[in-house]
Amino acid sequence: MSNQGRSYCGELRLSNVGCEVKINGWVDALRDHGEVLFIHVRDRSGLVQVVFSPEFASDKICKRAAKLRKEFCIAVCGQVVKREKGTENPYLETGQIEVMATDLSILSKAKRLPFQISEKAMIAGANIKGMGPVAEDLRLQYRYLDLRRPTMQDYLIKRHRIHKCIRDYLDEQGFIEVETPVLTKSTPEGARDYLVPSRVHHKHFYALPQSPQIFKQLLMISGFERYFQIVKCFRDEDLRPNRQPEFTQLDLEASFIDEDFIYKLIEEVTVKIFAVGGISLPQPFPKMTYQEAMDTTGSDRPDLRFGLRFVEATDIFKKTGYGIFRQIIDRGGCIKGINVKGESEKLSKNVLQNEYAKQIVPGFGARGMTWMRVIEGQLESNIVQFFSKEEQRAIIKRFGAESDDVIIMIADSSYEVVTSVLGLLRLHLAVRLDLIPQGVFHPVWVINFPLFKLGDKGITSIHHPFTAPDHINFDPTDHKALLELHSRSYDLVINGEELGGGSIRINNSEVQHRIFQALGLSEEEVKEKFGFFLRALDYGAPPHGGIALGMDRVVSMILGTSSIREVMAFPKNRSAYCPLTDAPAMVAREHLTELGLLYPSKPK
Ligand code: AMO
Repeated sequence: MSNQGRSYCGELRLSNVGCEVKINGWVDALRDHGEVLFIHVRDRSGLVQVVFSPEFASDKICKRAAKLRKEFCIAVCGQVVKREKGTENPYLETGQIEVMATDLSILSKAKRLPFQISEKAMIAGANIKGMGPVAEDLRLQYRYLDLRRPTMQDYLIKRHRIHKCIRDYLDEQGFIEVETPVLTKSTPEGARDYLVPSRVHHKHFYALPQSPQIFKQLLMISGFERYFQIVKCFRDEDLRPNRQPEFTQLDLEASFIDEDFIYKLIEEVTVKIFAVGGISLPQPFPKMTYQEAMDTTGSDRPDLRFGLRFVEATDIFKKTGYGIFRQIIDRGGCIKGINVKGESEKLSKNVLQNEYAKQIVPGFGARGMTWMRVIEGQLESNIVQFFSKEEQRAIIKRFGAESDDVIIMIADSSYEVVTSVLGLLRLHLAVRLDLIPQGVFHPVWVINFPLFKLGDKGITSIHHPFTAPDHINFDPTDHKALLELHSRSYDLVINGEELGGGSIRINNSEVQHRIFQALGLSEEEVKEKFGFFLRALDYGAPPHGGIALGMDRVVSMILGTSSIREVMAFPKNRSAYCPLTDAPAMVAREHLTELGLLYPSKPK
């Protein structure tokens, strides 16, 4: 049986009735009716029902068909017929017809399957046997089978369409795709590097790129003006559901541009790729400063699909007689709260006091929480008597409180504690009270980040050290002033997920050098790690900037999958391990010796 003139299973329709067709694919499901065998044959395009009946097929072919099992790879010849009335399957696109087989080749047999692959019942509307959830590690171990499932194929095909849409659009805009090295030097993005030992240069290591950051800037210095790449990046960091050790970025950079160029370009491309998934995004995307995001949601990736914005309340209690608030304000602290509108029934006294105040909020890191329910216009709580009538009136006014609302306040001497705890509480309440509308997408640019933050190891970059500060006359030794600098960076956030980030860059070696000094790098370290880059900045570096979108996150959001692993062909599991190939794996001593990482074992 040749493959010439092959038809695709999922494309056969009533218009093909009477045609002789050849199909290739896998046995998705079987139903044996004694004399007659029904099977679903699946290829990339979909499913079709094939019937082996003595009426059309020879005895030899029927006997061969009797040997079929799930996932055998087969070729079938047959005639397309209209299904008899009452046997149509409205759940199949090909459900009006079936193929009466006249010939069958078994191209390859399959062992008993580790899990169910078929997603469609043979009888219209019936439940599919064995369709329960499968342990993810088992799915990853047999990923080639997992990827046979139509849902998984659809994810990867849509991912391809999204990537194609990006490539086409950026090409139209004059961007060219350039590959950058994978065996390279450290490209700092705040994670640990994956290292690759060199056999030729003993005790020397390449680092896999955390991003193509330095190379894309070098391409701007080279005069390419508009670069992009859909590229693998590698970061050895603690895994979370939306993180993988190797992931894909849409990385881009352009010269002689400003922030507005990036906003417009990325909004256009984001709108186009969300449209691939049937989602229409409102344009232009709003902007929010980092400070406003922290002040009102406690997060630099605010989820704006629901309210529960923070209300500043410190000033209401400036003269309060309530001791706890008094002390916190005297220590320079702050009080913020949220109004959970109309939820006093679900947030009873008991829930607020025993669940939230005693367990949930302390678990988020606060010492306590103050709650007030609004019952018939009056505040009700275990401590309301400590507040003056004037303070109570001010609370109601500031929070816009009405009957059945619940006000929750967090007070602490640390602004960071107040905002982070209230931020976690905001998300917790939104989920518990079902306040997050589904199918809604709320993009926002978070801008005006601080340039640096103070960590355990001193000052570090919030984005990366190549981000331009909002002004360049800074003293790299003045920590206080450094922490007040802002950056020309922007993060793209949708529904509380950081999808991308970028910035306008430093294009002056002297400023870049001072940034490295501010980060505590010695002259030797600067020279050894970034000397080549500083040198490049001295040869007519144009003003430039760019951004990178995390494509696994973007595609996962567009397709509404539960994790980014669903939209990656061969992801690692939650412990950065590949159950399919058993990577990472031990290597032979000789291999390590050859790489200069071990001395040869001494002869006995
Ligand atoms: P950044 O570090 O913000 O910026 O990365 C850009 C985007 O990449 C995605 N991302 C990840 N996705 C999956 N797994 C991970 N471990 C992971 N880490 C990051 C996120 C993130 O927003 N060079 C800069 C960009 C620039 O300045 O142009 C950079 O890499 O969606």
